[in-house]
Amino acid sequence: MTDEPVDSRAAIDAAGDRRTDGLDPRVREHTAGDTQDGIPFIGAGPGDPGLLTVRGKELVDDADLVVHAGSLVSSALLAEHCADAELVNSVGKDLEELIPLMRDAHESGRTVVRLHSGDPAVYGAALEQIDALEREGVPAYVVPGVTSSFAAAATLRTQLTLNGVANHVAFTRPRGKTLDAEDDHVAEFVEMGDVTTCIYLGTHAVTDAMDRLLDRDGVDPETPVAVVYHASWDDEDVITGTVADIGEKVEAAGYRASAMVLIGEAATGAGYDRSYLYGDWANGGAPDPASDESNDTRDAAEPTETEADD
Ligand SMILES: C[S@@+](CC[C@H](N)C(=O)[O-])C[C@H]1O[C@@H](n2cnc3c(N)ncnc32)[C@H](O)[C@@H]1O
Repeated sequence: MTDEPVDSRAAIDAAGDRRTDGLDPRVREHTAGDTQDGIPFIGAGPGDPGLLTVRGKELVDDADLVVHAGSLVSSALLAEHCADAELVNSVGKDLEELIPLMRDAHESGRTVVRLHSGDPAVYGAALEQIDALEREGVPAYVVPGVTSSFAAAATLRTQLTLNGVANHVAFTRPRGKTLDAEDDHVAEFVEMGDVTTCIYLGTHAVTDAMDRLLDRDGVDPETPVAVVYHASWDDEDVITGTVADIGEKVEAAGYRASAMVLIGEAATGAGYDRSYLYGDWANGGAPDPASDESNDTRDAAEPTETEADD
């Protein structure tokens, strides 16, 4: 253990320099599912304990100290998996407090896990903690989780990408204390038309975001919007509307945090084209070789890697 204060700025700069020089050798030594040395940064998923991954569950069940992301990690999950562990809420703590806490516990032989909501790779600020820990000599790694936009899509019984409706997905956040106005791209994504725009960290600002969309000529005020509050929690709620009226509805419900805002036609699940990946089955037999559709079906005989993985 050391009493030296943690210099998080230097840790982040040093990690940046190291990454510019090349990949960390561990990148090729481990897959994303491996249990590794050090402190795991675990994606807790959207809230329901059943949506924690098997690997995440094994690690959390075994932990002595769980540093978690406060109200975004559901109390049901903490109660089910962390009953015997010391719990520390990271909200309101800076790196200079969190890093020595995790470092000292790890060095004294305790099993430490860091629990982020959803997936740590999405608006999780995990990397700066990992860099600061590793500079202190404590290795760390990520265990992925189910991000909240995926849970919201499941609740809505839709897909974020939908053939003929949405070919792209944008994970974004609106302007605010962290994001300058010129870096807010919500309107550009929505204007593209075939994008499902998933707004994180924007529950308190739905009306503002929609007002900005209404000012744009390229945005149809009737574009569907779904807001899923606490996706997968017992008190999950779904509000649906359009760019023109969703702000009012969310304000009436009183939600100021913890909701996913999905903008785009895919939020409804309506109007999609059948994918030609399953062409023959959906046609009830072999395609008519003379029809245009059969050409698409023939294309599907040599699926792209992505289609094959679907
Ligand atoms: C700091 S970000 C963390 C995102 C998280 N890493 C993820 O992958 O979902 C917090 C935002 O995620 C969204 N969020 C997290 N959990 C949610 C849930 N269960 N239901 C809906 N939105 C959620 C909300 O937009 C919230 O403002």
